[in-house]
Amino acid sequence: MSLPVPTADSRAVVTGASSGIGTALATELAERGYSLILVARRTELLTALAERLTSSHGVQVEVRAVDLSDPVAREKLAGELAEREISVLCNNAGVATFGPVAQLDAGFERDLVQLNAVAVHDLTLAVLPGMLARRSGAILVTGSAAGNLPVPNNATYAATKAFANTFTESLRHELKGTGVHVTLLAPGPVRTETPDPAEASIVDKVLPDSVWVTSESVAKESIDALARNKMRVVPGIVGKVMSVAGGYAPRALSAPVIGTLYRKLGEGEG
Ligand SMILES: NC(=O)c1ccc[n+]([C@@H]2O[C@H](COP(=O)([O-])OP(=O)(O)OC[C@H]3O[C@@H](n4cnc5c(N)ncnc54)[C@H](OP(=O)(O)O)[C@@H]3O)[C@@H](O)[C@H]2O)c1
Repeated sequence: MSLPVPTADSRAVVTGASSGIGTALATELAERGYSLILVARRTELLTALAERLTSSHGVQVEVRAVDLSDPVAREKLAGELAEREISVLCNNAGVATFGPVAQLDAGFERDLVQLNAVAVHDLTLAVLPGMLARRSGAILVTGSAAGNLPVPNNATYAATKAFANTFTESLRHELKGTGVHVTLLAPGPVRTETPDPAEASIVDKVLPDSVWVTSESVAKESIDALARNKMRVVPGIVGKVMSVAGGYAPRALSAPVIGTLYRKLGEGEG
């Protein structure tokens, strides 16, 4: 079992490639010889990454500046991907909000659902027919440990990640024997940049350095897991604890405890 062999015409797509885990996934794939299509909104960051990856790894890198929460823009991208030879899709773009949903911006919450859940569905459905016809392909979805259980004060995010987690693990079983690999990345906290002590978030202050994992280690672990067609990769001790809690703790007990923690996170973000 391995990933599709990189070719001149095929492309690996990484959404949310302009920062954090997405940049690390794109870098990891380029190191393994994949030519890429990078997707996010911030063109200048994508272009700088594309130049860096082309010069260090000799791969072709295309940039698509797309707002994935916009159904029209997303449909155009999905249409292009359906026509191209996409060997690897990393559905990674996502954002989170903290606080009681009734107090959050309703428009932003709706956009968050479009980005974290509907875009994952749309782009997966766009590339699947081609992968099945070629009997070769690999799809990584960045869900979250937060998608395993109710998370008051992070409700829309947790619900979209529950969609991502369940969709991915269900799809994986449907695709057994087709040659298409599907893996869920469901991390706990990932340190995507070194926090400035003056601007550190409450999460940075509360969690000791030892429990954080880096984007680079997450990306390597994820692409290795995708090559082996593992069902789920859960980097980091906090993610593993949240996975166990989501599986075994009664929801009536876990919801208020987690809700209190996330209320504090929301106050820290505000
Ligand atoms: N870091 C963690 O602790 C953690 C834990 C569990 C799960 N995750 C998940 O990991 C994924 C990556 O997160 P990260 O930590 O690497 O955060 P990040 O650095 O903020 O990256 C988020 C990426 O999503 C892109 N994005 C945001 N809104 C978008 C939109 N409307 N259209 C297209 N792209 C958009 C951003 O690019 P632009 O702003 O340029 O559009 C950026 O490239 C997310 O799905 C997140 O939920 C992260």
